[in-house]
Amino acid sequence: MLAHGNPLGIPVRDPNPAPTIPRRGGPPQRSRIRSVKQIVVVASGKGGVGKSTVAANLALALSQTSPLGRAPRVGLLDLDIFGPSVPKLMGLESAGEPALSDHNKLLPLQNHGISTMSIGYLLPPGDTPVAWRGLMVQKAVQQLLFDVEWSSGEQELDVLVIDMPPGTGDVQLSLGQLVVVDGAVIVSTPQDVALIDARKGVAMFNKVNVPIIGLLLNMSHFICGSCDAPHQLFGSPDKFVRAADELKLDVLGEVPLVTTVSDGGDAGRPVMVQSERTGEAVRAVMRSVGEKVWKWLLARPQENHGVRG
Ligand SMILES: Nc1ncnc2c1ncn2[C@@H]1O[C@H](COP(=O)(O)OP(=O)(O)OP(=O)(O)O)[C@@H](O)[C@H]1O
Ligand SMILES: [Mg+2]
Repeated sequence: MLAHGNPLGIPVRDPNPAPTIPRRGGPPQRSRIRSVKQIVVVASGKGGVGKSTVAANLALALSQTSPLGRAPRVGLLDLDIFGPSVPKLMGLESAGEPALSDHNKLLPLQNHGISTMSIGYLLPPGDTPVAWRGLMVQKAVQQLLFDVEWSSGEQELDVLVIDMPPGTGDVQLSLGQLVVVDGAVIVSTPQDVALIDARKGVAMFNKVNVPIIGLLLNMSHFICGSCDAPHQLFGSPDKFVRAADELKLDVLGEVPLVTTVSDGGDAGRPVMVQSERTGEAVRAVMRSVGEKVWKWLLARPQENHGVRG
């Protein structure tokens, strides 16, 4: 028998430990992204309503309609991990992988004067789908938010537009918890189903304290090219305007369905950089949306938040 019950001095576990309540940290602190002055997200609870198309064209509209008295610096971040669209929409599909900065940060790829980042640049080419569990997705979102070098030289981005994935899931929650978002543009089409999902998107951003700039009605009517009459394929926009009223939100604009918009997206030439006459109606709406978003951003109080990244 040992003279000493614990000769190696290893701490012995209490056979009857008192139960402890797992300790949780407080909610994560929201911060700003280094070298990014303001953030606008483009979102909707529903897929396929034109979020990515609107995000790309809004980034361009913001860079073309500036109240700053100089050319603004605008970025576009694709947070759609499972279905990134920014590389194609911005004509950067074959641009290769982003380089790394001296500080090991991803350097954005540029086209049409916009700095962009997307998980699409980092995945192997081909049709292999991303099959990740929640934690991997969150990690990817954090890296895309905080490990990108948005500044060029000493110059910060004036505004970063974020293209959100559809739905009200992990990515939306992570974003709302991690960074200070200055405003959200919620995209919807006129159908009832799309509107219900847009309402969910509004409710979710309210929950995570992201202020909503307004609603954007996409594919409001079809312009066919052979007559001047607008074709209301998905019904009248009245329902949408009423829904916005009920939600006490502004309608920022009504974007018609025009083939030059989808053709431009497929070709990596968003309608805002085209000059074809058929896209002019959409450009006019997007320019006005850009002005409203600038107005909102310039009126935002500049609270003091930490900076991360
Ligand atoms: N105003 C428009 N006129 C014509 N085509 C449009 C318009 N808006 C979007 N589209 C087309 O509709 C399709 C869906 O658009 P987009 O990919 O932008 O939607 P999304 O909401 O981002 O989809 P997802 O939920 O899959 O991310 C695309 O082919 C796009 O070119
Ligand atoms: Mg999209």
